[in-house]
Amino acid sequence: MLLPDTLSNLFSLVINHYYVVAMSFKVKDLGLSSKGRTQIEWAEIHMPVLRLIREEFYKDKPLKGIRISAVLHVTKETAVLVKTLVDGGAEVWLAGSNPLSTQDDVAAALAEDGIHVYAWRGESRDEYYWCIERISEVNPHIVVDDGADLHAHIHAKNLTSGIYGGTEETTTGVYRLRMLDTSGKLRYPVIAVNDSYTKYLFDNRYGTGQSTVDGVLRATNILIAGKIAVVAGYGWVGRGIANRLRGMGARVVITEVNPIKALEAVMDGFEVMTINKACEVGDLFVTATGNINVINEEQIARMKDGAILANAGHFNVEINVNALERISINKKIIRDNLVEYVLSNGRRIYLLAEGRLVNLVAAEGHPSEVMDLSFSNQAYAIKYLVENRGKLNNSVYKLPKELDELIAKLKLRSMGITIDDLSDEQRKYLSSWELGT
Ligand code: ADE
Repeated sequence: MLLPDTLSNLFSLVINHYYVVAMSFKVKDLGLSSKGRTQIEWAEIHMPVLRLIREEFYKDKPLKGIRISAVLHVTKETAVLVKTLVDGGAEVWLAGSNPLSTQDDVAAALAEDGIHVYAWRGESRDEYYWCIERISEVNPHIVVDDGADLHAHIHAKNLTSGIYGGTEETTTGVYRLRMLDTSGKLRYPVIAVNDSYTKYLFDNRYGTGQSTVDGVLRATNILIAGKIAVVAGYGWVGRGIANRLRGMGARVVITEVNPIKALEAVMDGFEVMTINKACEVGDLFVTATGNINVINEEQIARMKDGAILANAGHFNVEINVNALERISINKKIIRDNLVEYVLSNGRRIYLLAEGRLVNLVAAEGHPSEVMDLSFSNQAYAIKYLVENRGKLNNSVYKLPKELDELIAKLKLRSMGITIDDLSDEQRKYLSSWELGT
């Protein structure tokens, strides 16, 4: 239940059902904070690059006096980023980027440490937007987002004045921001963190690849070996999932709308077919397209008895859950994140995590090692925006290549891996057009 906005500004703590409401945070239960703290420490051990950046930020205070509003999945890894920003001198306001992805223990630990967290697992749609409103009203200098709901809200409500710039974590959000930019309505510069090599090649591919399989297994405990797994979409996320499923013995089918990606999938050794055909053969379906109604009513109706549906795309629009609800004559919760629907033809269809991001809802999201890369990009992007305030156009930028490469170098170093340098002769060879055979 939500309190009216004015009441959320009370100084004293008010216990409201299961939530704790204070002047500047709203989380499920502050009593979970010690568990959350231990989880954050565990993440930090696996995030060596961000640890280095945190030390640098602590010393140099590049974010002194900077107010940051962030919509991110509230996980142990996000907590490590938030602490880095705070050590850099920032004040951070945080809301979750999915109603079901918040780790309540982590949210509690952050709130106890003075972060303005508005997030709990199981938010309704209204509560989700209420949280976003709370953190967009504080006149942020920097806006950090995962999916672009915060950027969209701030633009729709005309709250852009005083904002130096923003960052965007994910493919879907970058796509929305490019649409905003193309329509001439983007009101501050944005760094598309997603588009750094050290983000999408690792987070989207290995992070989502592993954590999606993790989510499917935690929700179902099925044997992957021998299953026919249909992966819709062969972008970096889709190919990560497809490869992990193949690695565990699944027979993987890819569906695509892009001929080049489809051709890549074929030459990577996957079977490629239309979703209309795949719907009849798949045991497990995972959507990763960023688009709407990728698995529709008619296709659900033609699936085999026992088919399992999961989504790995940012929004819960890829599987038509409304249609599944409509054509079902019975519905039963089997266990957390696993619901059985019985269709009128008697076939049972299983939906994971309500069709929301299965890796964050049924599991814990990407492992810390991969978020180390993604959130190092976020930290450097935020610092870059602060250093370059007033100098950038209202467009979507990539993080400068030198910073992207620096993150890769630091990660390699943390793994004890040394690579070669070009010799002077090789450098000269590469810089000339005259030298051939
Ligand atoms: N997105 C995917 N995995 C994540 C994680 N572990 N933390 C924050 N955002 C994520």
